[in-house]
Amino acid sequence: MTDYLCIREIHKDFSGLKVLTGVDFTVSEKQRQAVIGPNGAGKTTLFNIISGRFKASSGSILFKGQDLSAKPAHVRNRLGLARSFQITNVFQELTVFENIRSGVRSRNGLRYNFFRKPDNNRRINERTEAIAEEVGLKGVMHVPASALSYGQQRALEIGITLSTEPELILLDEPTAGMTREETAQAISMIDRVTAGRTLIIIEHDMDVVFSLADTISVLHYGRILASDVPEKIRNDQRVKDAYLGEE
Ligand SMILES: Nc1ncnc2c1ncn2[C@@H]1O[C@H](COP(=O)(O)OP(=O)(O)OP(=O)(O)O)[C@@H](O)[C@H]1O
Ligand SMILES: [Mg+2]
Repeated sequence: MTDYLCIREIHKDFSGLKVLTGVDFTVSEKQRQAVIGPNGAGKTTLFNIISGRFKASSGSILFKGQDLSAKPAHVRNRLGLARSFQITNVFQELTVFENIRSGVRSRNGLRYNFFRKPDNNRRINERTEAIAEEVGLKGVMHVPASALSYGQQRALEIGITLSTEPELILLDEPTAGMTREETAQAISMIDRVTAGRTLIIIEHDMDVVFSLADTISVLHYGRILASDVPEKIRNDQRVKDAYLGEE
């Protein structure tokens, strides 16, 4: 397996507060990588740096051999990288269909002179419907986002993330706040929609981590404490002391 995403020596300070102090890890194509660690460890900050929302204080990110460091978020998105947010970022007044369609449109608008071609609206609508179905929202496609249940809103976020056809998906605590039943549904949906793609998932819920991840990196005090397959992480004494033991 080749290195698909290489995170090298990432440091991040927020006006003196050292949040990341040399984060290193690599992800292979189609790998499912989980990032775990205590509250405030810097997991979301790391995602903000990978997606281009924040600039690292130092360090580099290579995606398919290209250095992303100087590339803004929309360029990273065009290269195939998409994230969903820990905080719900859905247009509440728009329907499920409209929310997903705006992403499908922007993706296609970026590619070529899409709107001039006949049939393109039909194709956009078909792709939008297909994504709504993939995330389990076809039955509520024409319902405003504001009327969805919490679990459905989170599913819609993933639908919006998929709308730009990403190959690398970053999910920040996709099951946070969900009931057991919603979590179980979310796991199987995430498993399905990320098939054939590369996934990095931040999660506190160990059931989610152990059912989805091929590899786990533990972020602790701004650095990666351990990266390994789930069984090794589960039995790693340092990880137990630092994190799993706290549960
Ligand atoms: N924009 C910012 N400005 C200043 N400090 C920030 C900013 N974003 C994050 N921090 C700080 O960086 C640290 C790490 O925060 P971060 O949100 O990355 O942690 P996390 O691992 O995602 O935590 P959680 O599990 O609670 O989501 C915290 O101390 C936080 O207050
Ligand atoms: Mg976070």
